[in-house]
Amino acid sequence: MDTIKEMLKCKYPIIQGAMGVICNPELVAAVSEAGGFGLLATAFSQDSEIIQKQVRETKKLTDKPFGLNLFTMNPLVQEFVDILADEGIGIVTISGGSPKKIIPYLHGRGIKAIVVVPTVDLARKAESSGADAVIAEGSESGGMQGYNGASTMVLVPAVSDAVNIPVIAAGGIGDSRGYRAAMALGAQGVQIGTRFITATECISHINYKKSITEARDTGTRFVDTGRFRIRALHTPLVEKILTGQMGTDAHFNIQAVEKSWIRGDVDSGIMPAGEVSGLISDIDSAKQIIDEMVGGS
Ligand SMILES: Cc1cc2nc3c(=O)[nH]c(=O)nc-3n(C[C@H](O)[C@H](O)[C@H](O)COP(=O)(O)O)c2cc1C
Repeated sequence: MDTIKEMLKCKYPIIQGAMGVICNPELVAAVSEAGGFGLLATAFSQDSEIIQKQVRETKKLTDKPFGLNLFTMNPLVQEFVDILADEGIGIVTISGGSPKKIIPYLHGRGIKAIVVVPTVDLARKAESSGADAVIAEGSESGGMQGYNGASTMVLVPAVSDAVNIPVIAAGGIGDSRGYRAAMALGAQGVQIGTRFITATECISHINYKKSITEARDTGTRFVDTGRFRIRALHTPLVEKILTGQMGTDAHFNIQAVEKSWIRGDVDSGIMPAGEVSGLISDIDSAKQIIDEMVGGS
């Protein structure tokens, strides 16, 4: 069985997590150029041609390996796989539901599958469905998650004990201390989301980046959508949603997300971020972030 480093074929076992519309090719390429593994995202995508364009744009910026996150509930998921196979992408991460159907299809097209899991049971299921590795994503993570996941400190060793495939830790990791802690818990690698939103190459608006660097340890909340919850920055908008003055749907769709995450209107959309925001105070390049993570004391 391949180790994570052999699988990713990059210098450091650091995956840049999928982050919806802010996984721009410049960020993905910068992470891969710095020795990590950049990842394009497709959760909000409704057009295979855009995926193909993003893959090609990223290839123009780096000749290092990078991957893509597939959202199983996206009806176009098989079309996306065909494009990835044609473009020579060798690894994807899978989130948003059961990977059972899509893994054989990926393997048939020569693509390895790393499945994001929030619990030990789902890690076991991913393994028996043929996953090549799992990402154990703790509840302190930014973004969408279920209702009953444990935090990284418990989830990563528990998943490492439960499965025989490599485990990558996600959630709450933002610097060299978190990186080393993840390895000590039994992970072979890490997936980082929130810290990379603050990377200079990320297309996220400066207002989003600053909301993270200015947040404290108590600066995020769970926003419940009824189907899943989103860990997000505790902005005035989120306070209004939590106190029932506003609904969630109008503030978590492609238009609202682009307006707030990319154009900086923080009152338009929910801005996901992890608890680790409380540890992040600088806006740095992807290379500075990765160099500190692997070399910092
Ligand atoms: C803005 C944002 C969007 C995200 N979108 C996705 C997604 O589309 N697919 C996915 O698998 N994970 C998604 N995530 C989760 C990240 O890929 C990653 O696992 C998580 O951020 C790790 O925790 P951290 O934020 O503490 O680093 C998202 C996270 C954030 C902050």
